[in-house]
Amino acid sequence: MDPADQLKQLQEQATEELAALADAEALEQWRVRYLGMKGAVKAALGRLKEIPADRRREYGRSANELKGALSAAHRQRKAELAAATPARQVLDMTLPGTRPRIGHRHILTQTIEEITEIFARMGFSVAYGPEVEDERHNFEALNIPPAHPARDPLDNFYITPSVMLRSQTSTVQIRVMESQPPPIRVVSPGRVYRPDTVDATHSFMFHQLEGLYVDEGVSMADLKSDIDQFCKAYFGTEVATRFRPSFFPFTEPSAEVDMLFHYPDGSTAWIELGGCGMVDPNVLAAVGYDSEKYTGWAFGLGIDRMVMRKYNIPDIRLLFENDVRFLHQF
Ligand code: FA5
Repeated sequence: MDPADQLKQLQEQATEELAALADAEALEQWRVRYLGMKGAVKAALGRLKEIPADRRREYGRSANELKGALSAAHRQRKAELAAATPARQVLDMTLPGTRPRIGHRHILTQTIEEITEIFARMGFSVAYGPEVEDERHNFEALNIPPAHPARDPLDNFYITPSVMLRSQTSTVQIRVMESQPPPIRVVSPGRVYRPDTVDATHSFMFHQLEGLYVDEGVSMADLKSDIDQFCKAYFGTEVATRFRPSFFPFTEPSAEVDMLFHYPDGSTAWIELGGCGMVDPNVLAAVGYDSEKYTGWAFGLGIDRMVMRKYNIPDIRLLFENDVRFLHQF
């Protein structure tokens, strides 16, 4: 056969075989067979010296072209096979696994559980009330008459003229007293809503803890000792409390309770915790209790601000932005 025809035939055969290859192993055998040191292309180039001088030049060029064409075809087929074959997965059992991020309860939820636990040890049960309330429970039964400024539409989230998002957990005082006779010793944590301007210490939604103790012979001394005990249990025994005269329509007398907080650097400051006082006889009468026979105390503390103090959180908004980088710390 004419040497030039031989080259042509070699190319046809190699190309045909290449197209039929199914895997990398067969491809490698093909490469050795045609492009290897002892392969067909090398042999064809070796025949150069047997070619008559006048055709040697052309034969040499054709043989080199064949080598280039088969090399290119090999590269292309290799890429095709790699794309079609999924990479074999290497599973190293000794590598550490991907640890899933484990969620946990929000710091406010944890705190509410901790606080109610402390009060449970002091003999308080836990009650819950609805966040959507009527005017009777948010105002009227709490001795807040229709003309009172606290009922101003600008200071509350009304849904209808008589239905609203509760602005305080004192609503639960009424709901508990309506549902059972004295004695009552209960705390009630929950969300409350006010259209306050949002800043570092104010939110339009925050959490309060209501406390209520009604029985025969309950006095202001009980209020002071219960709050003081709670503060020492939650913040630490070095904490002191003080009561400043104040006013709430549903307590008489009323007070603001402050706590002497000790900062890690050794300094101290009086921090307001919330309002409290002796349950107004009008409130006891509104739920049908005998206000001659029973007396009681009530308090309402801001839970978010207690959490901020305890964990040194500078801005209340951090508690509600749901940034897991922040929440993950607690
Ligand atoms: C009351 O809401 C009364 N119901 C408390 C009370 C209950 C008095 C029982 C007497 C008897 P006051 O509006 O002061 O009171 O709120 C109580 C606490 O809630 C405040 O001391 C503060 O800690 C917290 N608080 C009030 N407004 C906000 C706000 N916008 N953001 C965060 N915390 C707030």
